[in-house]
Amino acid sequence: MTDNSDRKHSFPKRFLWGAATAAHQVEGGNHNQWTIWELENAKAKAAQASFIYDHYDSWDRISSEAKRPQNYVSGVAADHYNRYEEDFDLLQKMHMNAYRFSVEWSRIEPEEGTWDAQAVMHYRDQLLSLKKRDIEPMVTLFHFTLPVWFANKGGFAKRSNVKYFTRFAHRIVSELGSGVRLIITINEPEVYVMQSYLTQDWPPAERNRLKALWVYNNLAYAHRQAAKAIHGLSRRYKVSIAKHSAYFYAGDDAWLSRMSAGIAQYIADDYFLKKVIRHCDFLGVNYYRTFRIYGYRVHESEEKVNDLHWHMGPADIQYALERLNTKYNKTIILTENGLADGRDQDRKWWITQTILGMQKAMENGVNIEGYFHWSLTDNFEWAFGMWPRFGLAEIDYSTGQRTLRPSARWFGRVIKNIRGV
Ligand code: BGC
Repeated sequence: MTDNSDRKHSFPKRFLWGAATAAHQVEGGNHNQWTIWELENAKAKAAQASFIYDHYDSWDRISSEAKRPQNYVSGVAADHYNRYEEDFDLLQKMHMNAYRFSVEWSRIEPEEGTWDAQAVMHYRDQLLSLKKRDIEPMVTLFHFTLPVWFANKGGFAKRSNVKYFTRFAHRIVSELGSGVRLIITINEPEVYVMQSYLTQDWPPAERNRLKALWVYNNLAYAHRQAAKAIHGLSRRYKVSIAKHSAYFYAGDDAWLSRMSAGIAQYIADDYFLKKVIRHCDFLGVNYYRTFRIYGYRVHESEEKVNDLHWHMGPADIQYALERLNTKYNKTIILTENGLADGRDQDRKWWITQTILGMQKAMENGVNIEGYFHWSLTDNFEWAFGMWPRFGLAEIDYSTGQRTLRPSARWFGRVIKNIRGV
């Protein structure tokens, strides 16, 4: 797809074209369970970098950053908390009409039961600023970070703690009021559980299968409770989770490969979705990856990998969407999709393939109402730190200056063309 292409497209006029961020990854100046973890682990992570990443194709480019402890500390991050107006200008430059961001629970309720009016005001200001620009907000309530007091109580590992999240959800949504319609309660529950309770990459860095399953179920319960509380305020709120949905497929016709792919897909998607789908007004989908399975093993081709060494299969988004549609028959919004690409080499290709994949899925009956690229700007990529560059806009961390990458300027022209604005 080119910017001046007159290829017929099937995107409705009201389709949401946007970019996504998460508070802790861009705001800077947070204090939550992640902040503590970062400071405790930065030195060790820097020391281990050579062992962990040296087989990456990107290693030569990233090594000096990856070996520095500061890389693993979010610090001022993209300073989005102070510079959000500038960032919203970027959305406008790309002719976007939507923006997904998360509200930081640890700012809003820094101590149990203490509500910070200024923090709430900040997010209300953000909403006003988006409204002035005719940009539809989508607000995430839990995007991997927790207030320290909540984490100290055991976080989502205790079912009785879910009430604190529900209380937060109810209160913040009522305070944000009519400025928002689209709500994501929980971002990528499965990724959170995997990294925090199985692989030990994220706080609280436990390795306990039973606990992981328990937390997973509690998150499903948390979504249902929060969705009920939000719908209790008004049915005009459209609520979902953002489901990380990788596409698993058999690399050959063997019975074992097909069965393994089916089981992997069930565990990755359906186990959780079945528990929440009746409490979702649409289905939020984060799509980044495909996994090819031979026998019972993942075996991806390494022909095209991004800076994080993830195999790139953007066109497969079509099959992921079609499968979810057949299974759940819900309107889908792509709540995240993107790649770490510091040289901006593959982003244009990735977005083109993605748009074509969405188009084909729509032609085959999938109802898609929006696409949010991950991410608006470069940001703090969790355990990897600052070096992976997911941004449509590049950030010069020494000055804070943001510059739209060439692919982003091109994407902006594509959106303009599709939206006819
Ligand atoms: C998460 C983001 C993350 C992105 C890239 C998603 O799993 O929601 O927070 O930065 O993927 O890894």
